[in-house]
Amino acid sequence: MGRMDNKVAIITGAASGMGKEMALLFLDEGAKVVAADINQDRLDELEGEVKAKGQEVTTTIANIADKAQVETMVQKAVDTYGRLDVLVNNAGIMDQFQPIGDVEDKGWNLIMDVDLNGNFYGMRSAVQQFLKQGGGVIVNNGSIAGIRGGRAGASYTAAKHAMVGMTLNTAHMYAKDNIRCNMIAPGSTATNISETYGDLSAVSDRIKDRVFTGMAINPRQAQAIEIAQVALFLASDESSVVNGSIITADSGFSAY
Ligand SMILES: NC(=O)c1ccc[n+]([C@@H]2O[C@H](COP(=O)([O-])OP(=O)(O)OC[C@H]3O[C@@H](n4cnc5c(N)ncnc54)[C@H](O)[C@@H]3O)[C@@H](O)[C@H]2O)c1
Repeated sequence: MGRMDNKVAIITGAASGMGKEMALLFLDEGAKVVAADINQDRLDELEGEVKAKGQEVTTTIANIADKAQVETMVQKAVDTYGRLDVLVNNAGIMDQFQPIGDVEDKGWNLIMDVDLNGNFYGMRSAVQQFLKQGGGVIVNNGSIAGIRGGRAGASYTAAKHAMVGMTLNTAHMYAKDNIRCNMIAPGSTATNISETYGDLSAVSDRIKDRVFTGMAINPRQAQAIEIAQVALFLASDESSVVNGSIITADSGFSAY
């Protein structure tokens, strides 16, 4: 008996890092998983690993910044498996730690498109489906940058803070509709996310002083599977009374 038996779950950003670990873990626990990402090669790798274990996964290319692709992703889950029980809004990219005075429009818009608007599209589509079928669960993957001011740049910090608002509002608005919505706030975790911010050797002295100095008190870096285990709890019925929570998963880094 698995903790996710027969539940249909979409995981965005499922080809790498935390999302990949979530996909593998949810499958092991009996879920039917739609793994969405923009990286076809890594989706193929995931599919290969899953097949080698004798399991099946549905993969789909979906750029969450594109509303139509997000709606198609949700529809694909419903068409394939007949319903949608869980949406994990996990896909995300980082900024390059720029404070507001250094944020360029292009970078701001990209972070908002992916880390905020993309999750909005997914939450809206999922909630509309949940209301038709009588309930469902949303797990947003935020960040401690969504609850603290100095863990990233201005745009990422703003997008992740906005995700707190969307999580709480959705939890409240649909609490009587058998819909739950919670957010994980991971701290530093070993994944491929550094690919999105690239070389940091030339960052400003302000970033070194205000952001990197603080990182020195991080107790340790997490492994992606540790965040996946939190997502599993929030996605499963074990968390049936948990709604509107922001769960930090950072070894206590943000407790300071
Ligand atoms: N790694 C960390 O230290 C850390 C800390 C706090 C929060 N987070 C959050 O965790 C989540 C997962 O990130 P990760 O660390 O596993 O990174 P990762 O780069 O290993 O994985 C992210 C995945 O999202 C995909 N992706 C990126 N843009 C996308 C888009 N527009 N549409 C669909 N898929 C897209 C990437 O291709 C990748 O496969 C993100 O929301 C991130 O903000 C990460």
